[in-house]
Amino acid sequence: MRTHTCGELRADHEAQRVALCGWVHARRGHGKLVFVDLRDRYGLTQIVFDAEDAPEELVDRGGRLPLETCVRVEGVVRRRRDANPKIPTGEVEVVADALEVLSETANPPVIPAHEDELPSEEVRMRHRYLDLRRPAMQRMLATRHRITKVARDFFDREGFLEIETPVLCRSTPEGARDFLVPSRKQAGMWYALPQSPQLFKQLLMMSGCDKYLQICRCFRDEEPRFDRQAEFSQIDLEMSFVTREQVLDVMERFVRELWREVVGFEPGPFPRMSYHEAMERFGIDRPDTRYGLELVDVSDLAQKTDFRVFRDALAKERGTVRAIRVPDAADRLTRKVLDGYSKFVQEFGAGGVPWTKIVAGESGPGVEGGVAKFIAPIASALIERMEGEVGDVLLFGADARSVCLKALGELRQKVARDLDLIDESAWNFLWVLDFPMFEYDGEERRFYAMHHPFTSPKSEEIERFLGAETGEIELIESIVSDGYDMVLNGNEIGGGSIRIHRQDVQKKVFELLGISESEAHERFSFLMEALRYGPPPMGGIAFGLDRLVMQVLGIDNIRDVMAFPKTHTGQDLLTGAPGPVDPEQLEELHVRSTA
Ligand code: AMO
Repeated sequence: MRTHTCGELRADHEAQRVALCGWVHARRGHGKLVFVDLRDRYGLTQIVFDAEDAPEELVDRGGRLPLETCVRVEGVVRRRRDANPKIPTGEVEVVADALEVLSETANPPVIPAHEDELPSEEVRMRHRYLDLRRPAMQRMLATRHRITKVARDFFDREGFLEIETPVLCRSTPEGARDFLVPSRKQAGMWYALPQSPQLFKQLLMMSGCDKYLQICRCFRDEEPRFDRQAEFSQIDLEMSFVTREQVLDVMERFVRELWREVVGFEPGPFPRMSYHEAMERFGIDRPDTRYGLELVDVSDLAQKTDFRVFRDALAKERGTVRAIRVPDAADRLTRKVLDGYSKFVQEFGAGGVPWTKIVAGESGPGVEGGVAKFIAPIASALIERMEGEVGDVLLFGADARSVCLKALGELRQKVARDLDLIDESAWNFLWVLDFPMFEYDGEERRFYAMHHPFTSPKSEEIERFLGAETGEIELIESIVSDGYDMVLNGNEIGGGSIRIHRQDVQKKVFELLGISESEAHERFSFLMEALRYGPPPMGGIAFGLDRLVMQVLGIDNIRDVMAFPKTHTGQDLLTGAPGPVDPEQLEELHVRSTA
């Protein structure tokens, strides 16, 4: 039907007769001279309907083409008098002598050319096929493809095999709620959709596959966020007979190649930081290191004041006082903004944000405003500790350690955004290592696995770990795992670990997590059984594919990097999923609805 695509014609095609197919992207002029921008996946080409070269009837039809009509045009390529440097085909145009409407269009609710006046996201999702016609979305799909292609090529060269794992399976605990599928043939039994292929990739290592890759779909029934969907994709990897260093090395080389190929930027070696350091300095386990505003422990100084807020905090179990120095911000952090910060941290359980400003005094810098009068005795020691300068603002967190770090970690990011402190051109990759194995939930009085229950303690921790008793909370909390996260500009783009390949260690994890022997047997007997037959040491990682695309393209909404995403309530507005089913279907599945 076509000789070329709409992105292909250049000056050296001049005088050639061509046929193009595509959609009417834009139309200008009328009467005897009409210009149409014809669009397909590859680009735009200007088509001219000129009454001097073509029958008036043709020019007239060209002039009445509604936007998004699907057409086929024949004509001759000619150089434009005024080239358009903005598009690759801008040196030429096609002088049409034939026009065929391949299909007409109703008035489209999303007009791809009107990038600046897009309808609501709901309308875009309902008519996703129109939304995907937008050049930006086509670019996204192409980039997504490019990322998976680079991944497949890279890991193929490294000897990885791509292997599919089941979608209908036993529940795999990644910490989220499962999506369940009832079985028709086994009344009362349920499949779970995989939260990740974690156990299958471990079983593949036990099968001798040595190196596994899969670009897979994962399902987690959790609240969507700007970077989280219930159904998402991973580049999932696993390797046998490797140390943590070897896994980190391969994955880092992959991500470097990816950025070189797709972004055109060559990252240097990735810095590393322990979980403990990340929490202490940034209040978060995925620190954005593109800006400062680090948390500084000032508990010892706070102890020397009579300030109630500080003293109450320090009286709490694991109470602490931390401060952030915001450089040269005295003018911009007005009282109103600071009051807003106090409200902001309340979302994270903190009471508020005490603050003060550093000002010039007679005998050197001092503090003024906010809590200045309460902290006067420690002012100069505080300024020295914070490396403060006149014009800086100090923000405090005073609470139990976990609340304080969380609140200041979030506040740090907000301040950086508010004051425009983020270098948007930077690519700050980082490995976060040495996570604790377990996290204690004081309310539920139980432990959770920080990564997943198949993550190994670091080898030097194993004896200590095996000796731990269920009640020894502090000891258990202190055990360090061989897990790792890859962080980019404050976003977790991948996470993995060295796995447990010893039955006794795996059993102990279940025990400490409060999974009874019978439950462990019920859910994981296949794993425990497999661990009896010479499992290799192994480790791996999974990258969030959608998050990689978001980073590469600088897009901050995960729905905009997926062809067919779901809304925040988990709906596919295009097809209407989830939808009702016939009562007979439910009956066949042995399911009764209580809705
Ligand atoms: P984890 O749960 O850390 O590890 O997931 C790995 C990576 O997947 C991405 N990710 C998500 N992306 C979008 N929406 C979500 N709901 C979502 N959840 C996770 C993140 C994350 O870093 N089986 C282990 C991996 C392993 O141990 O090898 C796992 O799934 O980028």
